[in-house]
Amino acid sequence: MQRAVAATFGLMVSTIPAFAHADETAPANVVSVGYLRTWVFGDAGVTSHGLEATYMHYPVAKNFLAYCALAQFETYGGAYRWALGGQLAMGFVGVELALARRGADTLHDATFGVHAAPYLSVGVLHLALRVVSPIGGADGRYPTEVGLTLGIKVPVPIDQMPELLRIRVPAGRPLRGADGTAWLPEVVLGACGAVERPLLGETSSRRVAAARFVADGQLECAAVASFLRLAEELRALAVDPALVDAALAAAEDEVHHTDLCFALASAFAGVPLAPGPKPEVSPRRLDWSTLAVELFVDGCCGEGLAAEAAREEATRTDDPVVRAVLTTIADDEQRHAELGWQIVTFCLQVAPSVRRDLDAAIAGLDSEGPSLAARVRRGAVRRLRDSH
Ligand SMILES: [Fe+2]
Ligand SMILES: [Fe+2]
Repeated sequence: MQRAVAATFGLMVSTIPAFAHADETAPANVVSVGYLRTWVFGDAGVTSHGLEATYMHYPVAKNFLAYCALAQFETYGGAYRWALGGQLAMGFVGVELALARRGADTLHDATFGVHAAPYLSVGVLHLALRVVSPIGGADGRYPTEVGLTLGIKVPVPIDQMPELLRIRVPAGRPLRGADGTAWLPEVVLGACGAVERPLLGETSSRRVAAARFVADGQLECAAVASFLRLAEELRALAVDPALVDAALAAAEDEVHHTDLCFALASAFAGVPLAPGPKPEVSPRRLDWSTLAVELFVDGCCGEGLAAEAAREEATRTDDPVVRAVLTTIADDEQRHAELGWQIVTFCLQVAPSVRRDLDAAIAGLDSEGPSLAARVRRGAVRRLRDSH
């Protein structure tokens, strides 16, 4: 857990725009939204929950100096509190200054105050010592308020929004639990694989690239366990041994993909990143229908989509190292999708009633629209109908 937190910390620090902006002399703009928890001390003490949104402008990214507008809204027991103001930040430290209003409770009137708070901000964590002095001295107002605020906020660089909005697709075969949810490994500090150094220049966004390859690496790591389990399950069903061997070979491919993705993520993040431990996975007792449906959805469609997405992205990148990795993954995922087709075919030959469950699975697939995922699913459905 500590290693996972350390890795998250390292990734966030190394990838927030002020530290890793593609062009470090350019301005950077960051929006953060997150949860606030405040402990107010003294006679009017209270513990609160709330939200904070900030808009931060770095005139020159590499200087770490930033100006910020902030808005907070919190519930103070039965009352409420809001604050509007700004921040001046220099790297990890800064100060907030705001106009605040705390709502009335049974002992106090609603009170305006001047909110001042030195703070420490690292990655997603934000810790502030907050002092609020009431404006005016009328009876019934809240006394000066001193509190500690912990914020957990996700910084989103709005200059890079278009890249962030390019949603990733599945990069491997998911490892599903009994309830259908997919397992993913933690991310920890540690070496994993090696690649040539990718381009880290102005056209690449290290932050976006690191996050993207961490997510891909987690999916690839899950795919290793998924194929090892599949091999055991196929063996238990006494299928053609060549299919068992192909599943084991696919697990080896996924080990390689995991190494490649985490090696790229580490290079972009500037810290060594690796997947955490894999779970103990026992083979399930599958029937032919369950096997066929899972292979059709996760193999034929899922890995078919992973192959198409990686191939398409390989043509868009201008980084030869990234292109080589994506091309390798695309070729292997295509082979895994074909293994899915072989197993689905085997299931249909052994138990023709599987067809009914496949039809039901097809009816539940979202294959409408122009997205790549929908196009791949439509192609898979056509191929299933044409060939069986
Ligand atoms: Fe993969
Ligand atoms: Fe795969």
